[in-house]
Amino acid sequence: MIKNDLFLKALKGETVQRPPVWMMRQAGRYLPEFRALRDKYDFFTRCETPELAAEITVQPIRRIAPDAAILFSDILVVPRAMGIHVELKDNLGPIIPNPIRTMEQVNQVFVPDVNETLGYVFDAVKLTKEMLNDEVPLIGFAGSPWTIFCYAVEGKGSKSFDTAKGLCFSNPVAAHTLLQKITDTTILYLKEKVKSGVNAVQIFDSWGGMLSPVDYQEFSWKYINQIVEALEEVTPVIVFGKGCWFALNDMGKSKASALGVDWTCSARNARYLSGGNITLQGNFDPSRLLSPIPTIKKMVHEMIDEFGKDKYIVNLGHGILPNIPVDHAKAFIDAVKEYGQ
Ligand code: CP3
Repeated sequence: MIKNDLFLKALKGETVQRPPVWMMRQAGRYLPEFRALRDKYDFFTRCETPELAAEITVQPIRRIAPDAAILFSDILVVPRAMGIHVELKDNLGPIIPNPIRTMEQVNQVFVPDVNETLGYVFDAVKLTKEMLNDEVPLIGFAGSPWTIFCYAVEGKGSKSFDTAKGLCFSNPVAAHTLLQKITDTTILYLKEKVKSGVNAVQIFDSWGGMLSPVDYQEFSWKYINQIVEALEEVTPVIVFGKGCWFALNDMGKSKASALGVDWTCSARNARYLSGGNITLQGNFDPSRLLSPIPTIKKMVHEMIDEFGKDKYIVNLGHGILPNIPVDHAKAFIDAVKEYGQ
């Protein structure tokens, strides 16, 4: 039994005294103890060494005490396991030196044995569970097939992901074949993460908002929904689509347990679009953590009033930024704990 089960209760839609809180990308660069490890070990070494991944996962739990931990890893470990070479360059982000742009290349990408290629992640989950000692739940995650596809085809980050979209529109057979392989791998991967001990999973569709509502159905939601359907019996699934407010209606009808919302969508609209019954998660503008602490606290309380305390998980609208002072991050968490007191 997990001692602090607020997060799991909110995922089930149960009534709570106050909503739970965690922050996307909470294990990361705004923490001095994280930067100390980053100076010593490169990115994929941190992901692939269970002791380091577990330590980084619990750093924010010790320092700011959110109601859930998220495993330190990256969405790009999945394409790496599928035979796509990925590098992480400082200040440049992820680089894929040989981006996938033809059917021949798609045919070379494989659905791997996840235990063989991603066993280090499952080991990190087991070790983290031991370190957490059932204090708070552990979230596992994966990128959405579309978001992984964006990096695999574009070869790097992008403002518009034109090349990735171009492959969908000019060679839909190749695009769908690749998206399906990513989906199949992700399902195997997340099922194994659940077996190793995570208590919920989140799908990050960081680039879903690049697609029109119609294209979103065909190239993103269709695949996310396959993952949701494959996982819903074994664990709660949260779907976070950045810029995807237009898809909240379909998402709200799915078997997802909760939907993430970014800060461009009001609580009222998000409740309305998602059908009013499903748990929502979000949506504080990450840059707003640069406001003075009393302002942060006031705005967090207003946000909870707007979403309502039930069927709600307090979070940012996207990942925390590296330039956020730690005491501001802590004020965000504390504000939720002080709510209603
Ligand atoms: O939430 C957490 O604290 C768990 C850790 C986590 C990381 N990446 C660690 C990381 C999670 C959940 C991710 C997800 C991820 N990775 C996403 C989806 C969420 C989002 O932010 O949209 C995406 C798109 C990626 C791909 C990625 N990884 C990028 C674009 C970058 C470089 C830019 C950046 O954010 O720094 C990374 C590297 C990365 N992943 C870092 C961390 C802490 C920073 C680099 C480092 O530590 O050296």
